[in-house]
Amino acid sequence: MTVLAIESSCDETAAAIYGDCGLLANDVASQLAAHAAFGGVVPELASRMHVEAVWYTVRAALADAGLGLDAVDAVAVTHGPGLVGSLLVGLCAAKGLCWRAGKPLVGVNHLEGHIYSNFIEDPVPEFPLVTLIVSGGHSDLMLMRGHGDYDVLGRARDDAAGEAFDKVARRMGLPYPGGPVLDKLAEQGDPKAFALPRARLAGELEFSFSGLKTALVRVVEQLGDQAEARLPDLCASFRAAVVDILVEKTLLAVERHGVRHVAVCGGVAANAGLRRSMEAACADAGLTLSIPPLRYCTDNAAMIACAGYHRLRGGGSSTLTLDVASNLPLLDAEAWRAEVATPW
Ligand code: KG4
Ligand code: ZN
Repeated sequence: MTVLAIESSCDETAAAIYGDCGLLANDVASQLAAHAAFGGVVPELASRMHVEAVWYTVRAALADAGLGLDAVDAVAVTHGPGLVGSLLVGLCAAKGLCWRAGKPLVGVNHLEGHIYSNFIEDPVPEFPLVTLIVSGGHSDLMLMRGHGDYDVLGRARDDAAGEAFDKVARRMGLPYPGGPVLDKLAEQGDPKAFALPRARLAGELEFSFSGLKTALVRVVEQLGDQAEARLPDLCASFRAAVVDILVEKTLLAVERHGVRHVAVCGGVAANAGLRRSMEAACADAGLTLSIPPLRYCTDNAAMIACAGYHRLRGGGSSTLTLDVASNLPLLDAEAWRAEVATPW
């Protein structure tokens, strides 16, 4: 079985092909440079650029895989969460391909896609596992018992980790996108230079980063002109606080649910500090850790193709009436059963 996938939820137009033998193509047209001039993603610009790039990206993926459209078994597409205009471009393109070639459409939740970034290459994680999704808009802890079988354990009450990294970076005058720039600077700083609060939310599996963000902004204001010279220390201290909480809550979830496997995914999984700390903590606790190579951490279509492949194998496909949903939730198993009748 072979699945062609399109991802266009934010500022990357991506197409990929994944099948029984693994990943056959993975193409992405990044809009990063266009949005950098504005210091963030401009939704209208993003939609227009997706329109320009989507067919080229799909054609590039088919050419890389050496396949015609007839040779794929289904077209998977991200239909939420994300920017409505951006999602619409990918969904319309996918529907057009399905209509033309008579193939099934498979709607994929972007967050489920991130989870499947850990299933693209061997060794794939074993079930049951706790997965930490840390992207620009989400910090979620989920228990995954099998393919498509999730329990939501906890979410971010306010800012997600990626959002906090980006907002703090912007406040420190760092260029867009802030998260990776802050991460690089942090490598040269002292994580103990500034004492920042950790919102531990005792016993809870939820996250709150907005207090930490405000505390860092206050330190920057107090430093005034000296802030620039202290950037590496500020970044290192902030990153250490975020990472401490992410690791602590993940291990609490593991302990509470008695699992031995951890999988981390999403753009923030590219963070060097998080990767090191999570690796050390999992090794100490005797847990196996899956964390994708950097190319699968930030948005890509390989993860959507892999999620779509597993969904299709489980008998799940969508109809051509599928719509986009900017806040599409990743349903837990119970809600899924109620809504879709059978889990896959
Ligand atoms: O998963 P992703 O590419 O898009 C969403 O689904 O949101 O995640 C983007 C987020 C941004 O907030 C970005 O700053 C953050 O991931 N990010 C990082 C790093 N690389 C990307 N944050 C911290 N350190 C990094 N190295
Ligand atoms: Zn993403």
